[in-house]
Amino acid sequence: MFNSKIIGLGKYLPENIVTNADLEKIMETSDAWIQERTGIKERRHIVKGDGNSTSVMGVKAAKIAIERAGLTPNDIDFILFATLSPDYYFPGSGVLVQESLAIPDCPAMDIRMQCSGFVYALATADQFIKTGMYKNVLVIGSEYHSGGLDMTTRGRNISVIFGDGAGAAVLTRTENSNEGILCSHLHSEGKYAEELSLIGPNTGRWVPEILSANNPDDISYYPYMNGQFVFKNAVVRFSEVIHKGLVTAGWKKEDIGMLIPHQANLRIAQFVQKKFGLSDDQVYNNIERYGNTTAASIPIALTEAWEEGKVVQGTKVVLAAFGSGFTWGSVMIQW
Ligand code: UT7
Repeated sequence: MFNSKIIGLGKYLPENIVTNADLEKIMETSDAWIQERTGIKERRHIVKGDGNSTSVMGVKAAKIAIERAGLTPNDIDFILFATLSPDYYFPGSGVLVQESLAIPDCPAMDIRMQCSGFVYALATADQFIKTGMYKNVLVIGSEYHSGGLDMTTRGRNISVIFGDGAGAAVLTRTENSNEGILCSHLHSEGKYAEELSLIGPNTGRWVPEILSANNPDDISYYPYMNGQFVFKNAVVRFSEVIHKGLVTAGWKKEDIGMLIPHQANLRIAQFVQKKFGLSDDQVYNNIERYGNTTAASIPIALTEAWEEGKVVQGTKVVLAAFGSGFTWGSVMIQW
């Protein structure tokens, strides 16, 4: 049995910055409300026609991660692509990455676990590496939210939060059982599937049916979130799954070198920080600049923490996520 470790990280954010003041011009909201409730100051949105898509952003992040790993695309044995906003309904975005990187017939699999997508993808990569089936695995989290949000007052509780972007990691095998991913914990609770969801179109109601109904009240093609309910579940599940990780890894909370929570809401991250009694240096947040980029938020934040020298050899890294499904999970990494 091998361990898996991250040897390359990359990120890509679209250049177009959308500030809270920009949103004030198109819907009834305020910079004060957004900052107080979420911590967000600005986010990135793709400009239609700029050539970006979910897979294109993923490829840009992946190329940086592969180069930093000292590898070439042909060294990649397996691609895992986490997103809730794939380029197409089918096929998944992973195969588009495989084609763009010109990796001949390498397997590519999409992970549809929303905000927990990157954590699920890392845990999946780890299992394939542990068994020896694959050596180098490329894991991408990428989201293009802005094209599908209701940018009117009606959709403001969601549309001010989400942003576009991508992050990527390259994992490889190590024979040192004390380094790399030490453990992961994954959970889901489907009874709350519709509390944070986009349910239309679906296979029981295809696009032509929605369009022909011509019902302006049918906004099932926009994301829906029961915000307070999601918030209350998030703070409980984040805490539980981080605690489980600490117990399995045999770490104490003071051992944590860097906690990177999924960037859902600064208030959630602050709640978790307080609950575990962590200092500001032990928690990484960048939601103020990018909003919530769902499956991309952890790899973007991890990349930035590494670029800033806050994650170095020896750092005990905790990744934790909660989101639509509900799904949640944690990964403990001995860097
Ligand atoms: O990433 C996946 C996981 N996601 C999360 O964990 C998100 C969890 N939930 C949250 O972060 C918060 O619930 C939100 C940030 C989404 C909302 O904050 P809240 O404090 O729960 O506000 P609320 O939904 O209870 O709304 C309070 C008020 C309402 O007005 P009334 O009914 O009190 O008059 C909303 O209509 O704020 C209003 N409101 C807004 N006002 C200005 C909702 N969105 C906005 C907005 N600007 N953008």
